[in-house]
Order: sequence, then C-alpha cells, then structure tokens
Amino acid sequence: MNDAGTAVLQTPGWTAVGVARPHESAALHVLGQAHYTDDIPEVRGTLHAALGLSSKPHARIMAIDLVPVRASRGVVAVLTAADIPGANDCGPIIHDDPILADALVQYVGQPLFIVVADTHDNARRAARLAQVTYEELPAILTPQAARAAQSYVLPPMRLARGDAAAAFARAPHKVSGELYVGGQEQFYLEGQIAYAIPKEDSGMQVLCSTQHPSEMQHVVAHALGLHSHHVVVECRRMGGGFGGKESQSALWAAAAAVAAARLKRPVKLRADRDDDMLVTGKRHCFHYEYEVGYDDQGRILAAKVDMVSRAGFSADLSGPVATRAVCHFDNTYYLSDVEIRAACGKTNTQSNTAFRGFGGPQGAIALEYVIDEIARKLGRDALDIRKLNFYGVGERDVTPYGQRVVDNVIHELVAELEASSEYRARRQAIASFNAASPVLKKGMALTPVKFGIAFNVSHLNQAGALVHVYVDGSVLVNHGGTEMGQGVNTKVMQVVAHELGVEMARVRISATDTSKVANTSATAASTGADLNGKAAQDAARQIRERLAAFAARAHGGNAEDVRFAADTVFVNGRELPFNELVQAAYLTRVQLWSDGYYATPGLSWDASTMTGNPFQYFAYGAAVSEVVVDTLTGEWKLLRADCLYDAGNSLNPAIDIGQVEGAFIQGMGWLTTEELWWNAGGKLMTHAPSTYKIPAVSDCPQDFRVRLFKNTNVADSIHRSKAVGEPPLLLPFSVFFAIRDAISAVGDHQVNPPLNAPATSEEILKAITAVQAASTA
Ligand code: MTE
Ligand code: HPA
Ligand code: MOS
Repeated sequence: MNDAGTAVLQTPGWTAVGVARPHESAALHVLGQAHYTDDIPEVRGTLHAALGLSSKPHARIMAIDLVPVRASRGVVAVLTAADIPGANDCGPIIHDDPILADALVQYVGQPLFIVVADTHDNARRAARLAQVTYEELPAILTPQAARAAQSYVLPPMRLARGDAAAAFARAPHKVSGELYVGGQEQFYLEGQIAYAIPKEDSGMQVLCSTQHPSEMQHVVAHALGLHSHHVVVECRRMGGGFGGKESQSALWAAAAAVAAARLKRPVKLRADRDDDMLVTGKRHCFHYEYEVGYDDQGRILAAKVDMVSRAGFSADLSGPVATRAVCHFDNTYYLSDVEIRAACGKTNTQSNTAFRGFGGPQGAIALEYVIDEIARKLGRDALDIRKLNFYGVGERDVTPYGQRVVDNVIHELVAELEASSEYRARRQAIASFNAASPVLKKGMALTPVKFGIAFNVSHLNQAGALVHVYVDGSVLVNHGGTEMGQGVNTKVMQVVAHELGVEMARVRISATDTSKVANTSATAASTGADLNGKAAQDAARQIRERLAAFAARAHGGNAEDVRFAADTVFVNGRELPFNELVQAAYLTRVQLWSDGYYATPGLSWDASTMTGNPFQYFAYGAAVSEVVVDTLTGEWKLLRADCLYDAGNSLNPAIDIGQVEGAFIQGMGWLTTEELWWNAGGKLMTHAPSTYKIPAVSDCPQDFRVRLFKNTNVADSIHRSKAVGEPPLLLPFSVFFAIRDAISAVGDHQVNPPLNAPATSEEILKAITAVQAASTA
C-alpha cells in the first residue's frame, strides 16, 4: 500500500487530497457561528480578570499600594507574585520570564498583579488604580544599544564557512553598510484569552487561544505546583496566531489558572487590544552590519554579517529565532566564504517571540539588500545578479550550515515567473515611464525565496493523532495541531478521508485537547500539516488495514487487494458501502479506532558549530512587484504583484493560494506600514490600530496573480506536499525592493538609496532626500 492511496484502481480519479476544498469552518466563520474561546458559554460563577501593568521600563518596585484596587467596584481579589503556588515562570526554554513581576520590572507593560472582579470592565477599571513606587534603573531600548552594552539574553552565535575575511580582502569590489529592519505586531484578530475552570481533586481545565496546548498544560501545572495529568488544555480554534500564541499565550493561561485555583471559581482573562499589544512580544527587529566582496560579474565572493535582534527583557524564543535567521541569511544563494554572527539583544521592551517566518525573513532580507546594492553599483538588473548567485544543482549546493540543497527548483521557478510576469518588457516600460515622469516614479523587483521546513530544534518534529471510526461509519479526528485559520484541520481531514476512501462529509475534527493527544509540539514552523497529516495518516491506515483484513475474511480474496474509495469498499469483486463494512466489522469485534504517530526522519543539528541537516526539505517561491511612488509625499501604491509558490503536490490548492495571498500582504505590512514606536520612556506608543497600521483591503494590489508552481516534494512528506504557512511571507521583499527601485530612479539609478524597513512614507522621503543630495553632490 503506498502513499498515493489505494483506491484508484476501482474508481479512477477518486481522491480526497490535492483538491481545492473550502476551509472546514468556512461556513461557520462567515455565519458568525464558529466558536472562539470567548464564545464558549460561561459556567455559573465565572469571574473576570485583568492585569495591572508596569509603567516603567526598568525599575525596582519599592512599594505597591493595592488598597484602591481592592476597594474598586466588583473586585473579588487581587493577586501578586506571592500568590502563585508553584513556579512564577512562563518562559518556554529559559526560566527568565515571570508571570507576575516581583521586585523588579523590566518593561513598560509588564504584568504586576491580577485583579479578579465580577465583570471584565470592573476588573479593567480597578487594574488602573494601583499606586506603585518605583526606583528607576537605566533602560536599554534598542538592539544597537544592547550590542554596545553587550547586553544579551543568550551568548552570541557564529556560523562560518571558508575564510570570509581573506576572501573579502582579495575581492575586486566591496560593499559594506548597515541596515535596520523593524519588528511587527502579530495583530491576530482574536486577542489573547484564557478561561480556567477548576475541576475536582486539584484538576484544572483551561480553554484558551493557543498554538501550543501542551506547553500551556506544562506552564499551568508548574505555576500551580501540580502534575501535567491534573491539567487539561483545549483549543478548538484561534482567530489567528501568527506565532504570537506559540509561547506568549502562556502568561494568560497561567494567570487565569492561578486566579481560578486560588478562588476555586472559573476565571476568564481576555486581553483588551491595547493591553495585548503592550504586554506581548512581537517579531524581532534586527540591525545588521555587513561587508560583502564580489567580482566584476556580481558574483559574491565573501559575505560577512553581524546581526543583533531586539529580544526584549527575556529569552522566550529569541535563540531559535536567531538560529533560523542565521540559517536563512543565504536565502537562494551559494556563499563560498561566509561568516554570520547573530546576537539577541536584551532590551527593556516586550519579550519578542515567534512571528510567521520566525527569523527566516530577517535573515534573508539582509543579503537581498546587499545584492540590490551590488546590481546598482554594476549598473545591472538585480534579477541577473540574483540568478548568477543562485545555488547550483549538483554543484555549489551546500548551505553554510552544511546541509546539501537537493531539491533546488529556483532556476525553473524564477524563469517561469520572469516569463509569465513579462518582467523584461515591463522593466522597459517602467524606464520609459520614469523618463517622462518627474514626480511619480515606478519601480519593480523580482525576489526569490528558499525556506527550510522543520523545527530547527530537532526533537520538536514529532506529532500524534487519534482517529475514531464510529459504528455508523462516521469518522472523528483529533490531532496535536491547532487551527488558527491556516486550514490544518481541513488538510488533516482530507488526508484521513483519502486514507479511508471516504467522502469528506463523513469526517469531522474535534478541538485540540491535551487529554487526547499528549506531548505535542506547537503548531508552528509551518509543519502543522506535515507532522499531523502524517500522524493522522498513520492512524487511519491502521484502521483501514484492519478493515481490509476483516473484509477479506468475510468476502474472500486478499486483504492487500481490498480497495477503499468514494465511500465504497471493493473486495473480491464486490462493492460494499463503507458504513456497512464498518458495522459488520464492529459486530465481529474489530478495533475501529487508532492512534497514530510521526517523527520526521533525517534531521540533525549541532548547536555548538551551527551545522547539520536542520530541515527536511526546502520550499521555494518568487514574486514580482511593481509600485508607483509619489516622490513629493512618499506615498506609494502596489500596482501589480505576481507570486509563484512551490507547495509541492499541494494538499489543497485553494487553501495554499489563500496562505500565499495572506502571507504576502502580511509581509508587505511588515516592510512598509507597520511601525512599532517606543517613546523615550520606553512605552510602546503604537499599541492600537489607530497608531499601528496594518494593511487594509485597499492596500492589496488590484492586479494580484498568485499561482502554485508545479512540483512534487523529493522528501517523503505527506502526499509529497510542501508547507505553505510561513515561506510566502518573504515574497513581499519584492515590494520593498520595488520601492527602493522607484526611489533610486530619482537619481537615475546611480545611487543606492539607504532604505530601512518599514519603508513608511517618512522613511521613503528620507531616502529620496539622501539620493537627491548624493546625486547633486
Ligand atoms: N494563517 C492564518 N490564517 N492564521 C495564522 O495565524 N499562522 C502562520 C501560518 N498561516 C497563521 C496562518 C504561521 S506563523 C504558521 S507557523 C503556520 O500558519 C502554522 O500552521 P501550519 O503549520 O499548519 O501551516
Ligand atoms: N519555528 C517555530 N517555532 C520554533 C522553531 C521554529 O523553527 N524552532 C523552535 N520553535
Ligand atoms: Mo509560526 S511563527 O512558526 O507560529
């Protein structure tokens, strides 16, 4: 029995995978009937919590007067660090992340106490009334300042191959400089929320919005001084996670559980948007210093980069994020002599965390910026310099960390996109347009993506599933992944339907639940469908094999020849409805449910040398963006975007195209309009949609062409598909470089515009001014 399914002989063409299907909850979403955590009917006696937050970035707490808080209307209790029965920690890796600050605050917005009241509003009102006496300490707010002070949350990392210094010294041409790329708020539409319900005998149920139920179970058990078996965490779906609910749902889960355990009543903690943005970590901003040597053709001979991220006050996931940045600096390019340094700057700001791409985008954009400069210095089209430096096939194909690139399709993929987007003709049209247009300038860029798939911490690459076939022939699936809108449930349902040869309507998926599948990994690193799809396939296959054996016993023939397709079982020349076979199997006592398990093979990583095979395979893509910039105001518009993405044998092209579109627009927001701004007092001032500008419908290009590249995964992934969640977030590099191209037209492409991200209108105007100054000089 093979991966391609067994049913094709009898019902040619029948398949449940590889077909465009709506999201399993699409109808519920649009009808407003999909339950999010806050929609779950509240248990009688439920109380509501809010957090009291620090107003200083770094200070000793000399005194807290909570009397006015306790006296406020509806308040039932106020809890501080001393009220946490177990560990006051919610850090995912290193235990430097207090649930409630105790004696020391390390950022503006850090939770100090929990107020529990009869209503959500009363809790929030009371939380503002504390009188805190601080003794202020010096605060570090930027990654550059952290580097200058050698203030790091972890020891800096280094990956080197060849001799970058010597190759740089020998290189005929050199560029060096610095670049700053800002962070990004996840801006999930559903904010952080946890609802803790005490159960008998110290039990605790936590219903929460999280990408990582097992981690929530673990943190809650620790905070309460309980075992994991006391705690059940459940999540039916999130209204978006984007990495922001991988580790940072823990604070909310732990705080709600601590209050619920203390008061022996259900407690719900739902973050208001401003509090959510003030308290939780975001995408890491990065600062880079680079030195690159190249030859007359533009081939890179040496690359050195030193990057520092704004980790925030604690480690959280900053280490793995920096590791992924290091492992994506190469992007699609072969670098013979390379030295990459990365540090996680400890700053008095929110503890930054996972965000779609997880450091990959931050790693890759730096070299793209440099290639853009090399092209301008040589007077060549950047696409030609990119192609010249692409990984080879069978040569020049080993990454700086030692993994061989065996699935390289970037040459064909880019060639296809270059043709379908009419890149060269449009390039000429833009040049003519710009020659005749002094104020409006157009720009265009094609940028490629290579993204490694697997958690870069090898042991996380495992998953489990539980599949029940009920006697009526209906199927219930549970797996360790969490649904955040990305469609993992739909894909896993397709995999199970395919394996059992049943129509999708027979299959239903239940909420992720730590009491059903244990010790799960976060749904992250784009591996949700890869891991849980394989685990669910394993479970479904075991049931199918038992059913096939039973069918052969009952009707003759060989079990291996029994076929399942289109709700029908084909056995020894007979056709039986699936549900009838199931019914008969039950009566003869055949086990109709199974667990399933999967661990990704072939992974290795040596953190000390930063070498190994951290990825199962690579996903590829490329995009072309064309923009027009108003050089007087810095306003700009994306006129057209063409994306081509390698989803392998896509499990569900409709969902995958949706993921590419969403990631593209989200990444465009990161690089253009979404600016995080802290004031001199260390307070994040952009903590609401009024000041933090995510893309709107009107920012999507009128002409938006997203297609999937025809490919099959050379790795034995689920039905040879490829992950899609994060890699397309790098496609809008093309928007950023198209804007830079338009700015560069101001100086007739003679000057490299110094452009940091986000390329806000202000930043664009600054770059234009710099180009004008350099051109007239
Ligand atoms: N798509 C939607 N609609 N909502 C999300 O929160 N998160 C992204 C991506 N796509 C996200 C999303 C991130 S950060 C990851 S890692 C993947 O989905 C996780 O899901 P997957 O592994 O099942 O693709
Ligand atoms: N992505 C998301 N989360 C992670 C990763 C990763 O690569 N590694 C460890 N946690
Ligand atoms: Mo995604 S940043 O790995 O949750």
